[in-house]
Amino acid sequence: MAVKKRKIVVFTGAGISAESGISTFRDNGGLWDKYDVREVATPEAWVKNPELVLRFYNERRKNVLEAAPNEGHKALVLLEKKFDVQIITQNIDDLHERAGSKNIVHLHGEIFKSRSTKNPQLIYPIKGWELNPGDKCELGSQLRPHIVWFGEMVPEMENAQEIAAKADVFVIIGTSLNVYPAANLLHFTPPRCPMFLIDPNDVNSQAGSNIIHIRNTASKGVPILVEQLLSGKI
Ligand code: APR
Repeated sequence: MAVKKRKIVVFTGAGISAESGISTFRDNGGLWDKYDVREVATPEAWVKNPELVLRFYNERRKNVLEAAPNEGHKALVLLEKKFDVQIITQNIDDLHERAGSKNIVHLHGEIFKSRSTKNPQLIYPIKGWELNPGDKCELGSQLRPHIVWFGEMVPEMENAQEIAAKADVFVIIGTSLNVYPAANLLHFTPPRCPMFLIDPNDVNSQAGSNIIHIRNTASKGVPILVEQLLSGKI
């Protein structure tokens, strides 16, 4: 009878991709310092100026194509040798996939996918870095980025909560925990589930003292935590 592997749930944000050269949102010089989120990442922005929204995500897609997974992404793949690892990410980049992680839930969508504006079930891969005005779905409607904008529902949230509820260990990496409902995820973990936070800065974690905060960057902190988990030290 196979021994059931311990389940490690890893909740990531923009900070895990920062050292890959992808801007975070709320650090100094982050994306929301450069763009007004209401102009590029809301349904109203899409109605008002779809060309600007498409340009914003084209620039980010180009940035992701030029980026590569860092030691933080790669260390999470090593965990899969011994644990049942589930990644729940707020990131729209594909760096977890490119590092080799297998089980990934994207709460806020994916930069290399587009979606019909007539039927949201129609989702298409984006080849290269551009999604442009005039790119249409099979029903003839303009394609939009397959991204969850502010004010939109987070379809994967219930699935993510169910995954968090089964965690034996919960690891939070590189998120300021400022955006809901994603930031609520850590409250769905089982009581007394060991929780680790890897972030060089303080974050908005109301979860109280049962989080062990590793004040380090992802590329340094994640490999250290992974080594401790793999060696049975924790
Ligand atoms: N390693 C680890 N963490 C880092 C690093 C690094 N090298 N650099 C920065 N960080 C941390 C910051 O300290 C901060 O806590 O990453 C976090 C980034 O926070 P945000 O910029 O708010 O990004 P995130 O929490 O992922 O934003 C959530 O907001 O704009 C929306 O949909 C967007 O998914 C995004 C959501």
